[in-house]
Amino acid sequence: MKIIITENYEEMSARAFDIIKSVVTENPSALLGLATGSTPLGLYRNMIDDHKKNGTSYKKISTVNLDEYEGLDVTSDQSYVYFMRKNLFEGLDIDLKNTNIENGKAKDAEAECARYNELLHSRAQDIQVLGIGSNGHIAFNEPGTPFGSETHIVQLTESTIRDNSRLFKSIDEVPRRAFTMGLKNIMNAKKILILANGAGKAKAVYGMVRGAVTEEVPASILQLHPDCTVICDKDAAALLN
Ligand code: GLP
Repeated sequence: MKIIITENYEEMSARAFDIIKSVVTENPSALLGLATGSTPLGLYRNMIDDHKKNGTSYKKISTVNLDEYEGLDVTSDQSYVYFMRKNLFEGLDIDLKNTNIENGKAKDAEAECARYNELLHSRAQDIQVLGIGSNGHIAFNEPGTPFGSETHIVQLTESTIRDNSRLFKSIDEVPRRAFTMGLKNIMNAKKILILANGAGKAKAVYGMVRGAVTEEVPASILQLHPDCTVICDKDAAALLN
């Protein structure tokens, strides 16, 4: 693992952007694995600014997103498909046909997981961007998820429901289940870039970087990835010294 500690959120986002830009410049048809949450928003703003100022093109870029709440689709402003369109895709020249995410409204959840796995098996992400949950989850792989897991439906933990309720009108509106890429699908990416900021992530970052590799801390599996970069601000890195 390569660990980069930054002064603040802006510097974290700028360093992350440099990595994404080099992937996109090297391969203008790259497959980017993307994440939702507040953490990557600064990275996405940098990508949009750079596209507008320097014309970096995403016309041939494809994307796969990590996860989606069950029961929500693009008509819900809480869905991750909506989040990606508003916070990234609408600011780029990307073709929405090349952007992929689980269908939260799929009638047959198992068939939807199989469809997504097939897509992921057909091509590895050139880079996978990740955030981290305060309990060490990545995507929606909660503590205890098998390292060998592929796309599946999860029951969200109380702590994740609580953390994510800040983005909903009330905690009752947070879906209790979600589709998520599995840990094996994430580890299949050629490169991994995981971002964390704020004191609330310090314990999770410690577990990911210094703790035992254990299914109890899903992000700890990243210690086994051959090309993983962690970029965190000094608050999230506070327990690493
Ligand atoms: C959600 C997402 C994760 C994300 C995490 C942290 O649970 N499924 O992919 O990493 O939240 O979110 P935030 O970046 O808002 O702290």
